[in-house]
Amino acid sequence: MMLPHFFTPETESTNELITRKMQQEELAEGFMVHTDFQSAGKGQVGNYWESEKGKNLLFSLVIYPHHIFIAEQFIISEIASLAVVKVLEQYHKHFTIKWPNDIYWKDKKIAGMLIENSLTRDRINYSIVGIGVNVNQEKFTSDAPNPISLKQIVGKSIDRKALLADIHRGFLSLYTTTTLQEIHHLYQKKMYRNVGRYNFKDMGSQEVFRAKIETVAPNGKLTLLTEQGVRKSYYFKEVAFLD
Ligand code: BTN
Repeated sequence: MMLPHFFTPETESTNELITRKMQQEELAEGFMVHTDFQSAGKGQVGNYWESEKGKNLLFSLVIYPHHIFIAEQFIISEIASLAVVKVLEQYHKHFTIKWPNDIYWKDKKIAGMLIENSLTRDRINYSIVGIGVNVNQEKFTSDAPNPISLKQIVGKSIDRKALLADIHRGFLSLYTTTTLQEIHHLYQKKMYRNVGRYNFKDMGSQEVFRAKIETVAPNGKLTLLTEQGVRKSYYFKEVAFLD
């Protein structure tokens, strides 16, 4: 059974659509909108999100996490990432979360999310969680470096409706039944390259260094430990993973 949702064949962006809908009517917590095509799908940092018509999952849901402090808002990214990975793991193994919230299969990106929070004082008023999952697309034409779809991984077409219902349900179940501490713990366990040393690039100084992931703080800040034993902490986009 599908939880409360709204489908439209085409829209500019489901994040925009749900925000507009919220201004017109009261949307229950967990309400979701989805589409087959976005004419202006939004990626992280103003990028464009490529998605061939009718092939993938493009959806946004709203929650009202009044209990979450602004300083812990990264927890919503963690819930969304874990929900997607958990469902994808029913199809194959090797899925991880590339900090902060890209979903990877081996070294390729299968899903991304754009979370937009409305803040009041020190808490979150509402949160729009927009998720794009590459499901049945077989050719990618944008300059996104390393896309992959679930069909390319498992070798057959996937029922998008069932996948969407599972992620929607999984997200709400994690959100309502799991403690923030447990979510944070599960997130760190599922992180891409969380074991061993890798090359990173400091986007400020452009320095390349070898380090291991030490921890992620509840506010999303990533701490790396270099081979020389130096700790370096970064917010999103301040550091890049190198191949
Ligand atoms: C990224 O760059 O990794 C984030 C991609 C987020 C894409 C999804 S698709 C559904 C929702 N609507 C949007 O316009 N963006 C998000």
